[in-house]
Amino acid sequence: MIEISPTDRVFILTGAGISAESGLPTFRGEGGLWRNVRVEEVASPVAWQRDPQFVWEFYSMRRRAASQARPNPGHTALAALERALGNRLFLCTQNVDNLHEQASSHDAVHMHGELFKSRCERCTLPPFDDTNTYEPPASLPRCECGARVRPHICWFGEVPFHVDRIYRALDECTLFVAIGTSGMVEPAASFATHARSRGRTFYVGPEEPANASAFTECFLGKSGEVLPELFRF
Ligand code: APR
Repeated sequence: MIEISPTDRVFILTGAGISAESGLPTFRGEGGLWRNVRVEEVASPVAWQRDPQFVWEFYSMRRRAASQARPNPGHTALAALERALGNRLFLCTQNVDNLHEQASSHDAVHMHGELFKSRCERCTLPPFDDTNTYEPPASLPRCECGARVRPHICWFGEVPFHVDRIYRALDECTLFVAIGTSGMVEPAASFATHARSRGRTFYVGPEEPANASAFTECFLGKSGEVLPELFRF
């Protein structure tokens, strides 16, 4: 059980594990391969320059899977936490699915982008909602400026989104909880260490993450089973 005081400011970080019980595979579990390709090999600017069609096939597959997925009790528990805490809760997700939004979390900060958005790779047109899939023989989407349209995803080697806002929230939080993330990818893997200098840090997942030493305590279990009973305020 995690006690939340009336003055606690809570930072929640979620990873692919919170969506596992909704049927979406994690990256580094057994479902981490796609056509025997590591996600690091297809979610990158190099892969995009080399074979944009292949990249769009990957994200089209993920759009199809995510469009069938529904929130699980883990997502629902975090939406309830937002209703209880209001602006004392900061929800940061590494996930690009929209399951937090479907569960009625209202301000999930998607540091790695959003699967159901696309953007022009060149001009200043802002990211736009896009649920389309782009697979052969469909042609690749083009912007009105003529450049290619890409998934609005932060690829390996690119800078995550909303970093300033995230670190401001980390600096203010007194309670940090990471859920369903292996602690292998920066900068998110270092958030717990950053928060630990100011407050309590907890992890929720079926196995200890790579950065387990950064946590005050790990609650081992599936987030859909642990989260509904975890918080007391
Ligand atoms: N509940 C909670 N956690 C779970 C569950 C579950 N039901 N099932 C699996 N997990 C845990 C696994 O133990 C693993 O530690 O979820 C974690 C998923 O780890 P990863 O697959 O590495 O996913 P994540 O940490 O979110 O990856 C970070 O890497 O590929 C990039 O950009 C991508 O955002 C992603 C980033």
